[in-house]
Amino acid sequence: MNILPIHISHVDGFHSALDIVARERRYLAAVKAPPLDSTRRFVQGNIDNDQSQFVAIHDSEVVGWCDILSCSDPLRRHIGVLGMGLLPEFRGRGLGEQLLSETIADAQKHRFHRIELHVRASNEPAIRLYRKLGFVLEGTLKNDVFIDNQFDSTHCMALFPDWGN
Ligand SMILES: CC(C)(COP(=O)(O)OP(=O)(O)OC[C@H]1O[C@@H](n2cnc3c(N)ncnc32)[C@H](O)[C@@H]1OP(=O)(O)O)[C@@H](O)C(=O)NCCC(=O)NCCS
Repeated sequence: MNILPIHISHVDGFHSALDIVARERRYLAAVKAPPLDSTRRFVQGNIDNDQSQFVAIHDSEVVGWCDILSCSDPLRRHIGVLGMGLLPEFRGRGLGEQLLSETIADAQKHRFHRIELHVRASNEPAIRLYRKLGFVLEGTLKNDVFIDNQFDSTHCMALFPDWGN
């Protein structure tokens, strides 16, 4: 397993992994990946702007991703927004923790004062991982998700890095 900064050659694999996880309908804010073209522009923009976006590679295939992206809003430039996911067969063996730790370490270059994320309240493995790496629960948007005939809530979590800035 390799964890690498994303390269434009990873776009197809990243798009496919994102689509698979989104279609599980249990974890992400979308139920399918955006079109491949816009995903390519998104990744190229991240590379051009030195954003922290990493992929996990197994047998030359993208099996997961993690990104911490700067906000362009002038009021929110001190914030990085986190997203991540792994293909189902690669979960629960330490890869998520490794991927997230490396992405947080790389994001130090942006000196974020706050790294934030949204996670479904039902997603216990993700919540435990985030807590383990220092994220705190800031609040909950109760029943803000309704999917497959069920309500879910969204936790807002954040990490406040002490990087001496
Ligand atoms: C969330 C996700 C990235 C975590 O990655 P992972 O590789 O499965 O997690 P790891 O094996 O690195 O485990 C790290 C910690 O997460 C927690 N964890 C992982 N799997 C868990 C499970 N099945 N049940 C409970 N906690 C779990 C534990 O705290 C674990 O630490 P520990 O092993 O010391 O107890 C991964 O499961 C995933 O991609 N899930 C689907 C997509 C998703 O939820 N994305 C995030 C949306 S906000």
